[in-house]
Amino acid sequence: MSENAPAGTPQPTSAASAGRAATGTDVPVLQIAGAVKSFGGTEVLHGIDLTVNRGEVVGIIGPSGSGKSTILRCATLLERLDRGSLCYDGDYLATAGQDGTSSYRDAKTLRAARSKFGLVFQNFNLFPHYTVWKNITDAPLHVQGRDRDEVERVAQDLIRKMGLDGRERAVPCELSGGQQQRVSIARALALNPHILFFDEPTSALDPELTGEILKVIRDLAAEHMTMVIVTHEMAFARDVADRIAFMDGGVIVEEGDARQVVDNPRRERTKTFLGKFTDGA
Ligand SMILES: Nc1ncnc2c1ncn2[C@@H]1O[C@H](COP(=O)(O)OP(=O)(O)OP(=O)(O)O)[C@@H](O)[C@H]1O
Ligand SMILES: [Mg+2]
Repeated sequence: MSENAPAGTPQPTSAASAGRAATGTDVPVLQIAGAVKSFGGTEVLHGIDLTVNRGEVVGIIGPSGSGKSTILRCATLLERLDRGSLCYDGDYLATAGQDGTSSYRDAKTLRAARSKFGLVFQNFNLFPHYTVWKNITDAPLHVQGRDRDEVERVAQDLIRKMGLDGRERAVPCELSGGQQQRVSIARALALNPHILFFDEPTSALDPELTGEILKVIRDLAAEHMTMVIVTHEMAFARDVADRIAFMDGGVIVEEGDARQVVDNPRRERTKTFLGKFTDGA
């Protein structure tokens, strides 16, 4: 897939430069309202509302099959909502009609909007035949159509920041899982996203490499990157997220301040779920 610069390619690093202090201004980057999604006649999201403000870190927790990946996939246009709306930076990509049915903007608008967000998966999803360097620089050059010198500068900075110096010419199978995940984070950041989504970024990693990736995410949070993180690392979610949403059965059961949700959950369902965690289940 190599298209030239779509119209409306966003300004670089607005999220990174906005700062968590700006959270108080409540400027929404992402707004999802009334999200409903079915697969093959089975409804798996039953009306999700989720707003993420600039500089905010939102954790999504919940049992397997509760719809965490599905809401991320809908937010990042990998899946389409059946009902509800999706809006980035005040610009609606999908609106809900009178009966709630979603209607999406045209393909060109959606393609351009993809530059607004980055997605980091559990299994890295790197291009296996591309070097580290090409994995990071390919989309900024060929999808966003940015200037080569600028992209190379950004890539160099990210390689340093992610501790990948000297590995530029390696292909993914020559790297550890932790290194591959750092390439995948660098690749997402190279697009200057306004918001970064993580879907269980550490669940394929051993504890040491998990710590390494959690540190990278903590550093991004300290730089006020706007992020949504699906994770089973409860202590991490509690510390790094501003807000946590607990999902179960395709709905957000409870949402609130990260420490409150983890330390003093209000709903019985949340208590049971978190209880299983502290019991080591
Ligand atoms: N492409 C698909 N086709 C059919 N069903 C799907 C598809 N994707 C997800 N589902 C179903 O939707 C429900 C929610 O799945 P989802 O992957 O969002 O859960 P999850 O909370 O991310 O779970 P996990 O913690 O195991 O990753 C599940 O019942 C799943 O089987
Ligand atoms: Mg999932």
